[in-house]
Amino acid sequence: MIAIDPSMNEERDNYKLLIGSIIPRPIAFVTTVSKDGIVNGAPFSFFNIVSSQPPMISLAIQRKSGIQKDTARNILETKEFVVHIVDEENVEMVNETAANLPSSQSEIEAAKFTVIPSTKVSVPGVKEAKIRMECRLEHSLQLGENDSPAADFIIGKVVQFHIADHIYEAGRINQKGLGAVSRLAGNDYTKIGDTFELKRPK
Ligand SMILES: Cc1cc2nc3c(=O)[nH]c(=O)nc-3n(C[C@H](O)[C@H](O)[C@H](O)COP(=O)(O)O)c2cc1C
Repeated sequence: MIAIDPSMNEERDNYKLLIGSIIPRPIAFVTTVSKDGIVNGAPFSFFNIVSSQPPMISLAIQRKSGIQKDTARNILETKEFVVHIVDEENVEMVNETAANLPSSQSEIEAAKFTVIPSTKVSVPGVKEAKIRMECRLEHSLQLGENDSPAADFIIGKVVQFHIADHIYEAGRINQKGLGAVSRLAGNDYTKIGDTFELKRPK
């Protein structure tokens, strides 16, 4: 075994160890709106469930040299966002939105997504996702040192689900129909491969 003390590592070294180890990671495509009304979209794989009642999800949005990403800034300002599940059909469009566009430009327009109004929040979603979740900010946490923050940790409460008819089966999501895509390290992604069942012991 190789023993590595993360405090001796550069940020990129720790990043590589984490994103190569914690796999596969689900991907949220997150839409937000800026103070100037520009609809922003970006993917995030530091994404997970936090609670089922009330339904809550988390996003960890890294800072670049202490500077907040547009998504984090917009969520903290408007307290609203929409999470879309990335799948085999939308992953290429989603990837386009990860480009570093200035805040004044909409990645949604650049990637040619179709904007769709939300029902409970003022931030719109996009049509090109089989599942979207309208969220309100529940908690936020600035992580890292005060003089050089490392990340914004966001917890959102899901206030509305939208699920495509053909993948909704008696309260469950049809996993094959969804075709979710996950992130590995670097530019690698994975589809859901072989699955198997394991009964929990009583
Ligand atoms: C598949 C994928 C997953 C990503 N996951 C994250 C993540 O979890 N956290 C993060 O800070 N950036 C992540 N990024 C990078 C952001 O999407 C990227 O910095 C984006 O430009 C941020 O947009 P914004 O400034 O409009 O918020 C990811 C990029 C890709 C392509």
